[in-house]
Amino acid sequence: MDVLSNTTHLHLFSWIVGVALFVITAVMAKGSKGRKITHMIARLFYVLILLSGFFLFMRYSSLDSALYGVKFLVGLIVIVLMEMIIVRANKGRNVSKLWMIFAIVLFVTLYLGFNLPVGLNFLA
Ligand code: HEM
Repeated sequence: MDVLSNTTHLHLFSWIVGVALFVITAVMAKGSKGRKITHMIARLFYVLILLSGFFLFMRYSSLDSALYGVKFLVGLIVIVLMEMIIVRANKGRNVSKLWMIFAIVLFVTLYLGFNLPVGLNFLA
């Protein structure tokens, strides 16, 4: 699957669209048809984020296994949090704490991603 991990473009595309769809889903009216549809498409992008991240991980993690391991973990937590926020909000539960944790973990994920050696390195 070299073609999918030669650059970070597929991964970048996946998480940008995935996170955008998550935010759009979150601001839509609960119970609306639009919210259900964007949530479904967002889930498709979560799978793409996972797959593209996994291919990058398989190819490059030997460069710095510890940091790549942490990147894998925090990326996974971002996806879990996005899913938890939508599902819990649908059930009428309070998700403001989850939003705060999401913002922090997303920041750490972006910081780590842009610092790791492959792809864009404008934070290094
Ligand atoms: C929504 C969740 C995620 C976000 C926001 C995110 C963000 C990023 C960013 C900004 C980069 C740097 C791209 C570049 O430098 O061009 C990156 C690279 C990477 N991500 Fe993710 N990621 C997420 C999920 C994941 C997951 C779940 C995995 C593992 C399965 C993963 C594994 C990787 C790997 C291995 C790299 C290459 C690191 C490098 O540049 O050397 N990511 N990610």
